[in-house]
Amino acid sequence: MGVVSCWILHLVLVLQLQVLVVLSKNIISGTVPVGESLTASESQQFSSSWLSPSGDFTFGFRKIKPNNGFTLSIWFDNIPDKTIVWHAQTVNTTTSLVPDGSKVTLTADHGLVLTDPGGQQLWSSSLPQIRSSVSRGLITDGGNFRLLSEHSDVALWSSFANPTDTLLPTQSIEVRGNLSSRRKETSFQKGRFRLRLGDDGDLQLLTLNSETLAETDVYFSYYSSNTNDPHNPGNRLVFNETGYMYVVMRDNRTRFYVNKKDPVPSKDFYHRAVLHFDGVFSQYYHPKRQGLNNSNNGWSLAWSEPENICAKRFGPYLDGNELGNLACGFNNICILRDNHRPKCECPERFLLVDPNDEYGDCKPDFEMETCGPGNNRTETANQDANLYEFVTLRMTNWPSGDYKRYSNYDEGRCKATCLNDCFCGAVVLGRDRFCWKKKKFPLSYGIRDTNGDSNTFVKVLKLGSRS
Ligand SMILES: *[C@@H]1O[C@H](CO)[C@@H](O)[C@H](O)[C@H]1NC(C)=O
Ligand SMILES: *[C@@H]1O[C@H](CO)[C@@H](O)[C@H](O)[C@H]1NC(C)=O
Ligand SMILES: *[C@@H]1O[C@H](CO)[C@@H](O)[C@H](O)[C@H]1NC(C)=O
Ligand SMILES: *[C@@H]1O[C@H](CO)[C@@H](O)[C@H](O)[C@H]1NC(C)=O
Ligand SMILES: *[C@@H]1O[C@H](CO)[C@@H](O)[C@H](O)[C@H]1NC(C)=O
Ligand SMILES: *[C@@H]1O[C@H](CO)[C@@H](O)[C@H](O)[C@H]1NC(C)=O
Repeated sequence: MGVVSCWILHLVLVLQLQVLVVLSKNIISGTVPVGESLTASESQQFSSSWLSPSGDFTFGFRKIKPNNGFTLSIWFDNIPDKTIVWHAQTVNTTTSLVPDGSKVTLTADHGLVLTDPGGQQLWSSSLPQIRSSVSRGLITDGGNFRLLSEHSDVALWSSFANPTDTLLPTQSIEVRGNLSSRRKETSFQKGRFRLRLGDDGDLQLLTLNSETLAETDVYFSYYSSNTNDPHNPGNRLVFNETGYMYVVMRDNRTRFYVNKKDPVPSKDFYHRAVLHFDGVFSQYYHPKRQGLNNSNNGWSLAWSEPENICAKRFGPYLDGNELGNLACGFNNICILRDNHRPKCECPERFLLVDPNDEYGDCKPDFEMETCGPGNNRTETANQDANLYEFVTLRMTNWPSGDYKRYSNYDEGRCKATCLNDCFCGAVVLGRDRFCWKKKKFPLSYGIRDTNGDSNTFVKVLKLGSRS
């Protein structure tokens, strides 16, 4: 290679390096000029993002498996998990994911605009009506994406003011504001749980009708801060810089701490609070550098509400009605894991309605007995053991849906009274020898617990029988 060509190669390298430096400078300041855009791409996974100055947070497209679409998100970028803390809630209602080639552009008039490869708009930041245009975007080291106008540091829009399922330190929720859970861990459309600071100042966890997901179809609340004193109601939910979460009342002095535990130092740990797709609201911390906590380099649980979502059925915050379900669908049994998160298991002889949703409803694999003209059996009639038998669910209770109770029954009598009654779908027998008859399915609020003091006997059609 000649001296000249070597020199040219050197020049080219230097120029390329400069281009790289310019690009990363642009990104490292955290400022995004109007006109910049990012494209969701299978091939250039790492180029499609804007970083906060410290590199702690990144804004861009994330590929989501197994659905194989992208979500426009903000995530923790300095940890292996790359945990997502905000996502654009697009109009794509099937998955809320966007396809390869989708593009987000920072515009003066509409702020962030997300379009699909055909140019169709999928989402945009909703700016206030005032006539003020965006001059730049700013991604902060706290994980907030802010859109600023030329002459003001007041954001026209920010990801913190439009939260999805996560709160970060320094973020707050005003009266009427809420977080919404995802549909599933990998389905980014809104699910059926909300954390809301209500008009009356009360902070509540709510569950909605899981089918309509209409914001007006609120079934009940399963957590309440009780900060609805009309003389000094809750005014704002604060997640402060050091990781405390509290409701500040209208007098600006009184606080209700969602959890009283002191958080680990925010100098060394990241904090986040998330309303999970299963309805559990949890705060976590994560070491900022490896070696700070050798025993655990991932997210550790600080606290969660409720502590046992499987047991949330009765209690001061639930109204008496038995609408809906919580973490697990109808006929599905809730089992609490060590991390305060539930898993769900269909009873024997029941199958998931949607095989891909283990948190969904379970349906029987047999025809259930019905009371009708062709069936005259009541509890007084002769027992018909030829058609039906019982599946035993140990340590399992269904605390709702009773229609009859018998005291001092043993297992034999409890089963027999159900077998002889065409209304009866299952019986629960407690250690206290109370036998509870459950009316027709679906049952809700099933719970299995190693300390449980009840067994459930489900009346199922004998294999090989036809009713
Ligand atoms: C919705 O997401 C799916 C999965 O990524 C994709 O195939 C589809 O094209 C999207 N629809 C729109 C309108 O972007
Ligand atoms: C949650 O907030 C959204 C956006 O402000 C609002 O449309 C919705 O009605 C709220 N949901 C509830 C249950 O309050
Ligand atoms: C956050 O709240 C706690 C508890 O009230 C307080 O001790 C701490 O100083 C607050 N942190 C900041 C940065 O204000
Ligand atoms: C509470 O603080 C807000 C904003 O900081 C202020 O507008 C309001 O007047 C204060 N209220 C009281 C009762 O001090
Ligand atoms: C370190 O991790 C362990 C195990 O998760 C946890 O029990 C402990 O509280 C952590 N220490 C700190 C300071 O977070
Ligand atoms: C059930 O009772 C009705 C009315 O007494 C009678 O007409 C019918 O035949 C009975 N059905 C059976 C299966 O015994």
